[in-house]
Amino acid sequence: MSSVRLGVNIDHVATVRNARGESYPEPLRAALLAQKYGADSVTIHLREDRRHIIDKDLKEIKKKLKIPLNLEIAPTKEMLNISLKHKPDFVCIVPEKRSEITTEGGLNIKKNFNLIKKIIYKLKKKNIRISLFIEPNISDIKNSSYLNADCIEIHTGKFCNLHNKKKDIKKELKKIKNAINFANRIGLEVHVGHGITFSSAKILSNINGIKEFNIGHFLIGESIFIGIKNSIKKFKKIIKK
Ligand code: PXP
Repeated sequence: MSSVRLGVNIDHVATVRNARGESYPEPLRAALLAQKYGADSVTIHLREDRRHIIDKDLKEIKKKLKIPLNLEIAPTKEMLNISLKHKPDFVCIVPEKRSEITTEGGLNIKKNFNLIKKIIYKLKKKNIRISLFIEPNISDIKNSSYLNADCIEIHTGKFCNLHNKKKDIKKELKKIKNAINFANRIGLEVHVGHGITFSSAKILSNINGIKEFNIGHFLIGESIFIGIKNSIKKFKKIIKK
């Protein structure tokens, strides 16, 4: 395992499958290929509306995958029960709005404090590693620590959008760096995710203190052109120190 890990999010293999209501392309096949070509973990997000990954995918992937499975869930009782049933290796708690195209922004920890606390307590009792998907701000990092999360995943969507649009990234990058330093200082492992491309991964890889990159949409999209093997290998090379 390289010191900086790559988590491959395969949700959008399911998006393509579901667009035609077919049984292919299969997320399980993508998960096993990601494993074969060097992913350190595989991420799936079981959304409340099951728009991409469905319960059957979770069951099959959990059964066959040998590297850690990272399940993204909204903080709800339904998702807590599903996680307790299937026992993924990692759970990342994310916010979820029905109308959004993708996960917009980080968790509102204050609003969901008691429910998140209960979810973390119950899942950690089953030895599941917990991360919280948050914005790069100090108060959410402090709250993640109070809640006894193992890791935080910093939402890099804003930074990546600015970078894609060739806008000024300095302020957002500084926020991310400060957040990473603070989280590391108080003992939280730091991950990054959302909207990451080869080019934004290059910039983020220069920051010390990131342990894991979780990448989906761009990596799966690029696989159409260069194959999933090359897409994974290229990201691994970029994020490796
Ligand atoms: N990390 C988290 C917590 C996410 O919710 C997502 C999107 O589902 C990702 C990483 C991957 O983002 P993207 O698909 O934009 O690479």
